[in-house]
Amino acid sequence: MIYVIGVYVFGKILLFLLSHNINFQTTMTMSKKKLVISSGAGISAESGIKTFRDADGLWENYPVMDVASHEGFLRDPALIHKFYNERREQLINAEPNAAHKGLVELEKDFDVRVITQNVDDLHERAGSTNVLHLHGELMKVRSLRREDREYTLPCDQLTDKGLVTSVDTRDPYGDPVRPHIVFFGEAVPNMEAAAQLAHDADIFVVIGTSLVVYPAAALIQYVKRGVPIYYIDPKPAAVPSWVTVIQKPATQGVADLINILRKS
Ligand SMILES: NC(=O)c1ccc[n+]([C@@H]2O[C@H](COP(=O)([O-])OP(=O)(O)OC[C@H]3O[C@@H](n4cnc5c(N)ncnc54)[C@H](O)[C@@H]3O)[C@@H](O)[C@H]2O)c1
Repeated sequence: MIYVIGVYVFGKILLFLLSHNINFQTTMTMSKKKLVISSGAGISAESGIKTFRDADGLWENYPVMDVASHEGFLRDPALIHKFYNERREQLINAEPNAAHKGLVELEKDFDVRVITQNVDDLHERAGSTNVLHLHGELMKVRSLRREDREYTLPCDQLTDKGLVTSVDTRDPYGDPVRPHIVFFGEAVPNMEAAAQLAHDADIFVVIGTSLVVYPAAALIQYVKRGVPIYYIDPKPAAVPSWVTVIQKPATQGVADLINILRKS
């Protein structure tokens, strides 16, 4: 009898400890501070992918409005396909740099959410688990007739099966496709989700953006008063006095940021 009671009591204690342990772990995850990153072309510069600003309004030698605007697409869709084929070729030969990887490192201590204006996939390839693309994704195309039909390249369902697309590429429904890129003059479907993330941030960090492309540049305005804001850029734009500017390339700036956040 004493033996049965002993086993019963032991079982209860074990259950109690286990449930408290699980709760303890859950609390640890939930209590991580939300670190929201807003990245721009500058974070990928040290991976060999050029920014806009450093190229005098040209994007890889093309006038930006020819290759990144809605009008440009309507005017010359073949050029648009050619341009984004070249960008994909460049991207598959690029690697995430120490800045992309540093943000992954921060996931150990923070609930890191990345909002990126970049169309490259270097955050994902570095290992970031939570990435929201504001301006689309280079490795995707979508149906011209049905916006919700997206295809990640290379895709067996398309008539062209590699990373190269053209005006003749068709999806399984026989419809032509276009790059899954938000062109100038088009709506930014993920802006609302991005604004909510900025609003929910406990710490907000801007990396490598000239803060000239709207609405992305307005994200900082959604951050709550009193929330620390850092801005990493070797040639930073003018920002309010309460923003801590780290005037360095992204790889060095993110290393500094990690040290600052570890001490805080
Ligand atoms: N990698 C990409 O996906 C890519 C590349 C070029 C342009 N774009 C598109 O360009 C648009 C332009 O906006 P933007 O503000 O992101 O870019 P931008 O070209 O307007 O500005 C780039 C910023 O990066 C800074 N910079 C340059 N080298 C840096 C480095 N090593 N470390 C940190 N910062 C550095 C510059 O000083 C500048 O402020 C976006 O819509 C984006 O989609 C994307």
